[in-house]
Amino acid sequence: MPLAEAKVPVLDRGFIFGDGVYEVVPVYSKVPFRLEEHLNRLERSLGAVGIRNPYTREQWRGIIAGLIERQPFEDQGVYFQVTRGVAKRDHAFPKDAQPTVFMMSNPLVPPPRVQVERGASAITARDNRWLRCDIKSISLIGNVLLRQLSAEADAVETLLLRDGKLTEASSSNVFIVSGGVIKSPPKNELILPGITYDVVVELARAHSMPLEFGDITESDVRTADEIWITSSSKEVLAVVELDGKPLGDGRPGALFRRMYQLYQDFKREVMRAGRRERISA
Ligand code: PDD
Repeated sequence: MPLAEAKVPVLDRGFIFGDGVYEVVPVYSKVPFRLEEHLNRLERSLGAVGIRNPYTREQWRGIIAGLIERQPFEDQGVYFQVTRGVAKRDHAFPKDAQPTVFMMSNPLVPPPRVQVERGASAITARDNRWLRCDIKSISLIGNVLLRQLSAEADAVETLLLRDGKLTEASSSNVFIVSGGVIKSPPKNELILPGITYDVVVELARAHSMPLEFGDITESDVRTADEIWITSSSKEVLAVVELDGKPLGDGRPGALFRRMYQLYQDFKREVMRAGRRERISA
């Protein structure tokens, strides 16, 4: 149905409590990219918050395919969320609510060319979100407030530091490059396990680019040669200015340019072609 006609009852727990989880799947040439991985992550989020998965894998695939087919655009961002359903307001789980599913698809627009070529600005802030950032929860007030800080500074992202260490950004994962090594925080409960993060890691490994996972301190971030942010909508984007100061020489670095090219090649040859295989050298 037209988006403007879709309605949710006011007592839906998604509306009342932000009690639900979501996914965003990028679609290239009408082929959803890594749908199984997104559905695995959805299942994991649902399990972590105790919401019943209302559909089988087969049903999810079918509904998503139908939604994609009905849109006129080739490249799409499919958003879907599952809430605990409609019930009288009470924090404890309702006994018999049916999960509510809402799904929409919008045109997928990659970052503008000038941003890719010149790089973007970011700021840092204290990561004051909860301790289960691995759950893709629709309760995004923490992320929203943190993102607003960078919006007000005319920057594209807010990089988050918890106890002096880098976690991720308000709606993307973060990699740094120092001394020719690509580094990222390990997957744990403090970051969302990004599907794009996995692609970048696979591409780095397949092309023998040095890669390490571990704690990244605030000073590592500030003295990094390069910083990249990754997400389904931003792909891989270089940060060249941090808190108003140029990072490195203030231009996207050599490893970024290599990774960006690998990502674009992968998009053309694998994502658009709907090929399922993992990346190999
Ligand atoms: N955001 N970390 C956070 C906090 C995110 O919200 C996202 C994605 C990511 C990257 O995940 P992926 O590579 O699977 O897109 C990391 C989505 C796009 C959003 O909320 O719109």
